[in-house]
Amino acid sequence: MPDDAAVYRLDDERALIFTTDFFTPIVDDPYLFGAIAAANALSDVYAMGGEPLLALNLVAFPSDLPPHILGEVLRGGAEKVREAKAVIAGGHTIQDKEPKYGLAVIGLAHPDRLTTKAGAQPGDVLILTKPLGTGTITTAAKRDQAEIGDIEEASRWMATLNREAASAGIAAGARAITDITGFGFLGHGSEIAVASKVSLHIRFEDIPFMTGVKRYAEEWIFPGGTSNNRSAYLSEVQFSDDVIEQEQMLLFDAQTSGGLLIALSADEVEHFRAEMAQRDAPWWEIGSVTESSEKAIRVTRW
Ligand code: CO
Ligand code: CO
Repeated sequence: MPDDAAVYRLDDERALIFTTDFFTPIVDDPYLFGAIAAANALSDVYAMGGEPLLALNLVAFPSDLPPHILGEVLRGGAEKVREAKAVIAGGHTIQDKEPKYGLAVIGLAHPDRLTTKAGAQPGDVLILTKPLGTGTITTAAKRDQAEIGDIEEASRWMATLNREAASAGIAAGARAITDITGFGFLGHGSEIAVASKVSLHIRFEDIPFMTGVKRYAEEWIFPGGTSNNRSAYLSEVQFSDDVIEQEQMLLFDAQTSGGLLIALSADEVEHFRAEMAQRDAPWWEIGSVTESSEKAIRVTRW
């Protein structure tokens, strides 16, 4: 079962965390695209319980686009990396028809404090730290069907680092952490269930969604990745009859720079609440961990 990043133990005190991600623009604003791509690439370091240290830019850029656009992408990425208290130590650019941007990141963690997907236990509470919907909203935006305000809201979430959520989770003794990205909420959730040999019970009404998402879902506006996720993970999920098809699709929606899914001992929820309040960071309690049953995940409305 793959974890969010590769880990290399240096000695008893230090483990290196390696990860990379890059993709084509998902918002029109080049600065914001850079910031989102960087936050997304840094996320796996946080999901593993580490702090980012060094990053390299990975860039593909068409020769017929004005260079100041690339400048803005890199500025957005650099400022996000600085916010993460890491350093960009160069990178590499190639010519390509379609622009792409992302990072290769090295982080550092204490080997005893790495967070994986494998530690969730029956009785644990499940916490989500960003609302869902970036796949649906960015797809609606590409088709000129999205409200500007909805795109801005989704962009803010995508550009938000998972640093605060991860440090609060670790402070409260999180048993398993993963970040919600391309495989969607249910895809990444089922990875925790399988790795931890448990099942997850999700309450649909407690899942947070970005503004506008349910409306776009009614019009069946989903990226291709969402349908792929549904095909890949549907056999692992049992939905109650009152969770209708477009709601199911929203839980499969491919996310960019999504939040963390955290399994936490029920005794530690108040501790986590205090840690998150200190950081002024939002979170939602969306379900619980159960003994392993036939399906990795059961979704009911309540
Ligand atoms: Co990840
Ligand atoms: Co505690």
